[in-house]
Formats: sequence, C-alpha cells, structure tokens
Amino acid sequence: MELIDGNTIAASLIAELKAEVSSLPGRKPCLALVRVGDDPASVSYVRKKEKTADEIGLVGRIILRPVGTTQQELEQLIDELNADEGVDGILVQSPLPKPLDELAIFRRVSPEKDVDGFHTLNLGKVAQEDDSGFVSCTPAGIMELLARSGVDLKGKHVVVLGRSLIVGKPVALLALQKKTGANGTVTICHSSTRDIGNLTRQADVLIAAIGKPEFVTGDMVKPGAVVIDVGINRVPDATKKTGYRLTGDVHFPSASERADKITPVPGGVGPMTVAMLMKNTVKAYRLRHRTGH
Ligand code: GUN
Repeated sequence: MELIDGNTIAASLIAELKAEVSSLPGRKPCLALVRVGDDPASVSYVRKKEKTADEIGLVGRIILRPVGTTQQELEQLIDELNADEGVDGILVQSPLPKPLDELAIFRRVSPEKDVDGFHTLNLGKVAQEDDSGFVSCTPAGIMELLARSGVDLKGKHVVVLGRSLIVGKPVALLALQKKTGANGTVTICHSSTRDIGNLTRQADVLIAAIGKPEFVTGDMVKPGAVVIDVGINRVPDATKKTGYRLTGDVHFPSASERADKITPVPGGVGPMTVAMLMKNTVKAYRLRHRTGH
C-alpha cells in the first residue's frame, strides 16, 4: 500500500505558483474570501486559504459578515466585488447559514472571477470540455493528485460516492472527459443507490465524497484499488484537546489493507483543494490582465 501524500504534492504546486507569482509585473493577484457567520470548520478553512495566499504572494482579502446577513445584502456585496478592479477572484465559503440561498449567490459571482467554479457557466464548461473556465477546486485537486501519483484513469472504472455540486458531479465529469489522464468509465452512487458495496467493489478508482464518517470499509474496496477520500468529518473525541478528531468518509485501517494507493485524512485531498484555489486565482488574474503563461 502506498500513501498518496497530499501535503507534499500540494507543497510542490504551491512552490510552482510562488515562482509564477513573483514573476508577475505590477499588482499581485487578489482573492476575496467571503465568510458569513462563524461555523467553526468554515473559520478554519478560510484562515487556511488566507495563509496559503499569503505564502504564495497573493493578496487574500477576508470579508466577514454576521449570521443574519440578508440575501440582498450578500448579493450587494458580491456585486461590489464583481465591479472591483482590484479583485481577481471571489470565494464565498460554503455552507452559508440558513436561510441564505447558496446557489443564487454562486450564480451572482461574475464567471470571470468565479475561482470556485460553482457558476452555471463554469460548470457547463466542464461538461463541454472547454478549458477556458474554472474547475471547482476539490475536483481539480483530485485530478491533479491522481496525475501526480501516476494514476491514469483511461479505461478504468471510476466509482464516485456522492453527487454534490461541489465534488461528486464535477469530479465525475472530469474523470469522464476525453483527455489525457481521464477517459474513465464512471459510476455515480448516491443515497438512492441500491447495494453500494456491490458497485464500490468493482471500482478501480474509488472517490468517496458523501460526508459520512468511515462509510467505506475494507470489504467495500477491491484489492489493488486506488481510494480517494474527500470526507472531512468532525467526530466527537474526548481524548482530544479540541473535543473532536477529523476522519474521512473511508475507514482507513481496513481500506488501506486492500487498496494499492490511498489518501489519508487529513493530509490528502484537503491541501490540494487549497492549492487549486490559488492556481485558479492566478488564472483569473491572467485572464483579466491578458498575460499568457
Ligand atoms: N466548502 C467546502 N468545499 C468548498 C469549496 O471548495 N469552496 C467553497 N467556497 N466552500 C467550500
């Protein structure tokens, strides 16, 4: 069994981006990070994104709004950021507190600044295999992780657990694309799928993104498979100072006995998501300033 080390792979991506950003003339790319409310996981993710932006030499502009912010207020903020010449990328941390309409907010972000890739236009470009848009960061990070680990999906059976807008659907589309590294045969499983284990056991590459702690156990993994764990679940743990521990959607001890390659949690997909966000921000900057690479 080989561990796919997301920290190391993300670190090389970050080093590449740092070199690229230092060679850009004039103003540095700016990423607006919008967080509404104080969800503890969101607080930690946004902080991590700001720190990584800083490390690369990007400007991370954090914008905080309280719980109780109205849809109209948030839409007005997005409109202002869309019009702001100094902002290249806009990220609205998900999930937004109730009753905000998240999809309406994602669609409000100008497609040219949509570094999260959640806008209808950018998601549509993934379906059309048009590389001019933005691919959402976690799916893009998974593809990069596979490519840099020497996993070619061509002809492989890729089974995706979960059909979310943020991971399941876009990663399935990427794995399906007719391009180098992809060309997979894709199955998507979800809450209405019958006998999930029967399908996961047929997976050459299993991508778990359902948000259920340790859902995938060893008996659901085909011997020799590649297992990508996208879950970041906080489960109560009295032995930890924080009172919780992080676990993926995969039961690592049993799955790692059968898998050929597997990502850990933390230190697998998570760092790649952040690195791809930075890559998208530099891309947004280049598109707006028409500087080729
Ligand atoms: N919440 C979980 N993943 C993501 C992501 O990639 N982007 C944003 N904005 N929120 C998230």
